[in-house]
Amino acid sequence: MAAAKTTMTLRQRLRKAILFLRLVGHGLRVYKSMISRIVSAKVAALFESEPKQPIDPAEVKNIVIVGAAFAGLYSARLLSGSLPRDGRWRIVVIEPNSHFNFTWVFPRFSVVEGHEHKAFIPYKSDYFAMGPKGMVRWVGDRVTNVKKEVVVLRSGEEIPYEYLIVATGSTVADGLPSRANVETKEEAVELLQAMQERIKKASHVVVAGGGAAGVELATDAKDLYPDKSVTIVHSRQALMNRFSDGLQKGTAESMERLGVEVILGEKAISETQDGQFITLSSGRKIPCDCFVNCTGQKPASGIMANLSPQSIAPSGHIRVKPTLQIDDDSLPNIYICGDVADAHVRNPNSRIAGRQAEICADNVVLAVRGKKPKYQYAEMWGDGFIKLTLGLDRSITQFWDGTSELLFPSEETERDLMCKGTWMAMGAQPFEDTGVYCDK
Ligand SMILES: Cc1cc2nc3c(=O)[nH]c(=O)nc-3n(C[C@H](O)[C@H](O)[C@H](O)COP(=O)(O)OP(=O)(O)OC[C@H]3O[C@@H](n4cnc5c(N)ncnc54)[C@H](O)[C@@H]3O)c2cc1C
Ligand SMILES: *[C@@H]1O[C@H](CO)[C@@H](O)[C@H](O)[C@H]1NC(C)=O
Ligand SMILES: *[C@@H]1O[C@H](CO)[C@@H](O)[C@H](O)[C@H]1NC(C)=O
Repeated sequence: MAAAKTTMTLRQRLRKAILFLRLVGHGLRVYKSMISRIVSAKVAALFESEPKQPIDPAEVKNIVIVGAAFAGLYSARLLSGSLPRDGRWRIVVIEPNSHFNFTWVFPRFSVVEGHEHKAFIPYKSDYFAMGPKGMVRWVGDRVTNVKKEVVVLRSGEEIPYEYLIVATGSTVADGLPSRANVETKEEAVELLQAMQERIKKASHVVVAGGGAAGVELATDAKDLYPDKSVTIVHSRQALMNRFSDGLQKGTAESMERLGVEVILGEKAISETQDGQFITLSSGRKIPCDCFVNCTGQKPASGIMANLSPQSIAPSGHIRVKPTLQIDDDSLPNIYICGDVADAHVRNPNSRIAGRQAEICADNVVLAVRGKKPKYQYAEMWGDGFIKLTLGLDRSITQFWDGTSELLFPSEETERDLMCKGTWMAMGAQPFEDTGVYCDK
């Protein structure tokens, strides 16, 4: 028995070692691809001459990108570095928000006071510095419909496109803590402050949804306010059920350590009239004077519903081919990336959105140069990692290939998580916000 046990652990250890090596390889590949892109953009800038005279505007063709978050913004950046520099191609980015939503910190800043302004990063035109000046046009509006050759804006304006990249992501009807459903930074900051205030005043906080947002918010709330009762309600049999066993176990242990009550196999249905209880699917009522809904993210695919209704999956995602072209042979010039794409991703995240953005951008560049799109998206397990906070001062990072897992528990000293680095990666000075954005 003992021998069998040792071999098991040995085999497990070996698997982990292999996983670790693959992880290093994955990291190197990602790094190499980034460097080679930067180098080739610089080389192109040296050798491909920009036009001496401005091109007749009627001859300039648009590549329209709808949505400028992890997927859309990154595809715009890559395109700006690799499209022909002859002035015949323009990238039009359409995005209603004044600021980039840094969703990762929303659960934390829904609880902890004083950092909320850091969650909204001004869009800076320097971010596109890989391409010639003027190649990117920024349109501060929302697309309401897509037709075969134009997109229609809320303002009524129609913008023609030669190629279209749809990167509209996901939405949540209930807004925070998953999304801030307002268009200006001032309003979004007020929403976060109101949520902090609601939690601060409450005695019984109930969080619905045992995915990352719900777990992070519940552990932060209990850690900051140990005297309040905090309960998390989840319909499945384990919190973080879509992740590895080790991460589920680490999550459960943190709930216990902090004293968060966990109710599994139940859904939160509605708050009672008096605002004192919440009713669960079994009919049970639990005390609740502050309800936080962390469920119900939906892909924002509505703009494609007229042009290609058959491409919208029952889940609301837009069906795609491996090249990330929409799965509709009549529309080969439309590409889809990020949370809105039905690319069979286990746990959508920003890294995956970014990799899909690369595939779309690279295929559009091929098409523009008269070649067939050849790059294909396949999920790489290394991209599906997650760093989950479990209270104010600790986290677990999980890598998982479906069989073996690597867990990196760590202490967290930054209350505002990765805000500073993200501002800098976006070309913005942390945390200066002058209110001057992408040539809006
Ligand atoms: C609370 C929370 C925490 C998260 N934490 C992490 C994390 O720690 N790490 C991680 O990797 N991922 C995390 N994620 C997931 C990550 O945020 C998403 O995978 C990522 O945002 C997807 O990027 P996207 O560009 O596809 O879409 P989104 O981020 O959803 O952005 C879509 C963009 O499109 C715009 N848009 C939508 N409709 C239109 C329209 N009709 N016209 C014009 N523009 C439009 C929107 O305004 C928005 O800017 C988290 C998500 C949430 C909700
Ligand atoms: C944040 O994102 C959501 C969803 O994409 C959007 O509705 C909201 O306007 C954004 N907020 C800000 C302040 O940019
Ligand atoms: C939580 O939000 C989802 C999606 O918006 C919604 O369907 C559900 O009814 C909400 N739950 C409660 C209890 O309000």
